[in-house]
Amino acid sequence: MLKADSITHRYGRDGAQVTVLNDVSIEIPEKSFTAVVGRSGSGKSTLLSVVSSLLKPEQGQLFFRDENITWFSRARIDRLRSEEFSIIFQSHHLLPYLSAHENVLLPYLNRIKPVGREIYERGLKCLERVGLAGLGERLPGELSGGEQQRVAIARALVKSPSVLFADEPCGSLDKATGNEVMSILQSLNKDGLTIVMVTHDPMHAEMASRIIRLEDGKIAREC
Ligand SMILES: Nc1ncnc2c1ncn2[C@@H]1O[C@H](COP(=O)(O)OP(=O)(O)OP(=O)(O)O)[C@@H](O)[C@H]1O
Ligand SMILES: [Mg+2]
Repeated sequence: MLKADSITHRYGRDGAQVTVLNDVSIEIPEKSFTAVVGRSGSGKSTLLSVVSSLLKPEQGQLFFRDENITWFSRARIDRLRSEEFSIIFQSHHLLPYLSAHENVLLPYLNRIKPVGREIYERGLKCLERVGLAGLGERLPGELSGGEQQRVAIARALVKSPSVLFADEPCGSLDKATGNEVMSILQSLNKDGLTIVMVTHDPMHAEMASRIIRLEDGKIAREC
């Protein structure tokens, strides 16, 4: 479904350049659940940014559904990302003054058109999907850390993306809460959602269907 071919990326300029990704190729099959692991600074987040088209790599090509999207204009990439990709982070980035339900509808709230009944209901369904039925009226501050992260997942689902990217989604949660979030991700993957997740936790990586280890800017191991 997604393919990154010979990706090289450096940060910095001139004398002070650091090569973070060095000729990395990666394929993400449809409906797969890929965990990306590696020590801190090994380039996991950079790889996720490149594969999700957030960051344009210096070298290499990117394919989505067999189409070469490397040279798409920024507007076309933004449209593709908004229709097909969603991303969640360690920090949930919820707006504190909006209810959980309004946060889930956020991808639609920046339009001039008001949110219609169908989208409103879709938001409720997404909250239900992550086990938060009935909590939609609460503000983020009235929810636990795990519940807040589940709202972020619901928001990531509201536009029915084909790929969900997750950068350390359980990084700021305790073990039990992190496991709950992992179960939700596993269940979404079982229902056909393609997931690419960066994690530090070996147990969480084992819950994915494949593991890619980054080391010194290269893929050290794939299993
Ligand atoms: N915008 C940037 N400008 C310059 N250097 C950067 C930038 N972003 C990341 N780096 C550097 O690139 C390297 C890889 O960063 P990256 O965030 O991809 O690592 P990571 O594997 O996700 O690490 P962590 O596990 O700590 O999140 C690091 O050495 C980092 O300092
Ligand atoms: Mg990172």
